[in-house]
Amino acid sequence: MALLSPSLLSADFYNLGKEIEQSIQCGADWLHIDVMDFHFVPQLSFGAKIVEDIKKHNPVFCDVHLMVTNPQDHIIPFAKAGADLINFHAEAAIHGDRLINLIKENGVLSGITINPATPVDTIKHYLPLVDMILVMSVNPGFSGQKCIEYTFNKIAELDIIRKEFGYTYTIQIDGGINSSNVKNVLKLGADIIVAGSGFFSLDNDKRKDFSDLIHNYQ
Ligand code: DX5
Ligand code: ZN
Repeated sequence: MALLSPSLLSADFYNLGKEIEQSIQCGADWLHIDVMDFHFVPQLSFGAKIVEDIKKHNPVFCDVHLMVTNPQDHIIPFAKAGADLINFHAEAAIHGDRLINLIKENGVLSGITINPATPVDTIKHYLPLVDMILVMSVNPGFSGQKCIEYTFNKIAELDIIRKEFGYTYTIQIDGGINSSNVKNVLKLGADIIVAGSGFFSLDNDKRKDFSDLIHNYQ
């Protein structure tokens, strides 16, 4: 079954606790935590405290997307805060294997992310090592951008490779996904759907419909 991971960047921060609880009631499986450093991407968001505070109230799976230039500096703080999965950008990683090992040694699931124009081939050596590959379908930095559809081919490519070699990673897609295009990515093999504006702009009934669409897709 595919899973829904709403991106908190599109939530109403004034009502964050309520937004999280309602998201879960509407079928969110994970929470997607977008960490931005104003360097790798042109925006600042939040640090590890957000995960620590969420976990004090709710055991929900926290899926941390590091959009930062120095991912090595953020892994231990997020692991200590209770992150369940930490993924970093291939474009930012100088010593990727070391980072994957550091994530695993801290008891956290590991992921690697590729920007829209980064080919799958760039990360081929990481494929047997990680728990998740995140395919960005927008250039990271903002919610509410239009999906770049040429990225969808990489979902299919990753799905074929994992079947061929018996790799166990899941495939996540992030950026501009909504109820109109989600079936296209599910069809190609996406397992984890991130949605920011495509989820938080909906009322609760429509959020439930969106999560049902993802959960019931065969
Ligand atoms: C983009 C972030 C995404 C974003 C998704 O930099 O990594 O997770 O918040 O938002 P939407 O779904 O609105 O593109
Ligand atoms: Zn993200």
